[in-house]
Amino acid sequence: MKKPIGIFDSGFGGLTVLSRVAKLLPNEDIIYFGDTAHVPYGSKSKEVVTKFSVAIAKFLSEKKVKLIVVACNTASAFALSRLKNKFKVPVLGVIFPGAKEALKSSKKKRIAVIGTEGTIKSSSYTKAIISLDNQAVVYAKACPLFVPLVEEGWINHRVTKDVAKEYLTPLVRKGIDTLVLGCTHYPLIKKVIKNLINGNITLIDSAEATAKDVLNTLKKLKLQEKAKSDGRHSFYVSDSPEKFKFYAKRFLGYNINNVKKITLD
Ligand code: DGL
Repeated sequence: MKKPIGIFDSGFGGLTVLSRVAKLLPNEDIIYFGDTAHVPYGSKSKEVVTKFSVAIAKFLSEKKVKLIVVACNTASAFALSRLKNKFKVPVLGVIFPGAKEALKSSKKKRIAVIGTEGTIKSSSYTKAIISLDNQAVVYAKACPLFVPLVEEGWINHRVTKDVAKEYLTPLVRKGIDTLVLGCTHYPLIKKVIKNLINGNITLIDSAEATAKDVLNTLKKLKLQEKAKSDGRHSFYVSDSPEKFKFYAKRFLGYNINNVKKITLD
């Protein structure tokens, strides 16, 4: 169906979700919104994150998207049910797909989740995992320093390794076999995380799991694009397009040009 998929995030991080969706569905048009005027969401309240998310979903609905993907874990944790109730267009978040994938991979059912302060406080991942398997044991930990470190580009930096060690060692000691990267930025420091945890712990990338969910949902609703040509990606932000382009290169690995700044109601 010739309608775009809408993806939104607090800023640049959701581009990890866009890149996974685009890889799986290269012929789909995508409209991405990054709320760069209000980033970060991870330290903000449920009320504020929900207000921003509703305004963005309204913008995307007006752009006639066929599906909205809440790429931001914090926005998914705080605002998903509100968006599902308020908008006619189907809305998907990143938490349920990540939770499902974690259970699929975990033999011991001892799972850890890391994310922003907001995501962890909401217990959304824990609730989603337990709702699917009430025998599972879930350990959740906020890792608020990871987002600024990634945005600084300190992907392989000694400081990032030290911070990761501080955050992750107590989780590894719990005997987990699965670790969910419950934040848009964490896939970028996958290597650092992998080197710290033992080889028996599987990392779950919520972005990857969400892309599969997008594909399945479009199939189920018969909303898949039929054309074989590459889809068009357009980008909207609430602050500096120049800064967004700079970070986009870091997250996507290539340059983007069509970035427009807009002001939301
Ligand atoms: N996108 C956010 C998330 O996945 C991380 C950045 C932020 O705090 O806004 O939770």
